[in-house]
Amino acid sequence: MNEIENIAKQMVAKGKGILAADESTGTMTKRLSSVNVESTPENRLKFRETLFSAEGMKNHIGGVILYDETIKQKTSSGKTVPELIKSFGSIPGIKVDTGAKKLAGSPDEKITEGLDGLRERLAEYYNLGARFTKWRAVYIISKKYPSALAIKSNAHALARYSALVQEAKMVPIVEPEVLMDGEHDINRCYDVTSSVLKECYKELKLHNINLKGTILKPNMILPGNKSKTKNNSQEIAKMTLKCLKENVPSEVPGIAFLSGGQTEIEATQNLNEINKINDTSFLMSFSYGRALQQSALKSWARDIKDINKTQKIFNHRSKMNGLSTSAKWNLNLEKQLTA
Ligand code: 13P
Repeated sequence: MNEIENIAKQMVAKGKGILAADESTGTMTKRLSSVNVESTPENRLKFRETLFSAEGMKNHIGGVILYDETIKQKTSSGKTVPELIKSFGSIPGIKVDTGAKKLAGSPDEKITEGLDGLRERLAEYYNLGARFTKWRAVYIISKKYPSALAIKSNAHALARYSALVQEAKMVPIVEPEVLMDGEHDINRCYDVTSSVLKECYKELKLHNINLKGTILKPNMILPGNKSKTKNNSQEIAKMTLKCLKENVPSEVPGIAFLSGGQTEIEATQNLNEINKINDTSFLMSFSYGRALQQSALKSWARDIKDINKTQKIFNHRSKMNGLSTSAKWNLNLEKQLTA
């Protein structure tokens, strides 16, 4: 099998998912300030190294997305961060976009930047050990947004990024995130996500992307966080699966959801429900940032030296999400294991 196709499959092999630890320095500073820890390169590395050397990495984390600063850092044992990740049987990856900026022509919306000089940066990241990459596009929902311009321009950028990444022999994670902010209901999220995914796959096809060597990282289909109507996990799973079946070509091997502001338990439960009814060939997994790290970060901030406690919490979350990739999770397991 082609090397990138093989990597894509390993990243979301049954029982495994992706740890999104690629927060930019700005975002990481917000996360650390929220638990009263100073955001220094050393502290950012300390937290991340604590997670990357946890036992849960072995069985449940197929890949870790890093940030530019982290992929170049050396751990306390002298290994580089990618070497540490590889020693747990996991694959190092890297966020390569340079952030979502104001979209000229529709300035309430965002366009993701980072294509200039990307070919050269990819060669550097490959040499540092990365074998997959991430690029995130964001879309807002309101009465008039997202605009056709935001949908088209972000899809175009995602496709140009994917072509460069495959040229560099790495797997692109294609992340079009429809944000959950707003009063809209689940049907509106479904419609917007469908339009976004359709345009992305139209552009990916145009750019001759080998879809078997890609991973899709989408949002789940959810009501807005200020919506008057709420939906249960079964409804969320049904709508999410329907949307993906209708808009994602079957060659895509894996779909790894972002958590996007769901609580840790919601993200796990929703993925579990999706896998209960998954009748597609897609491996349905996770690529969570907050939903894998939130509790661990809180515990770490309480006592930075108590590495075991932080790792125990991270191991538990990884295991719960790992179980949800095979629809084997239930709420009782949460209670038993956290007790
Ligand atoms: P969340 O799971 O916290 O949404 O982060 C995933 C991610 O990588 C966003 O780009």
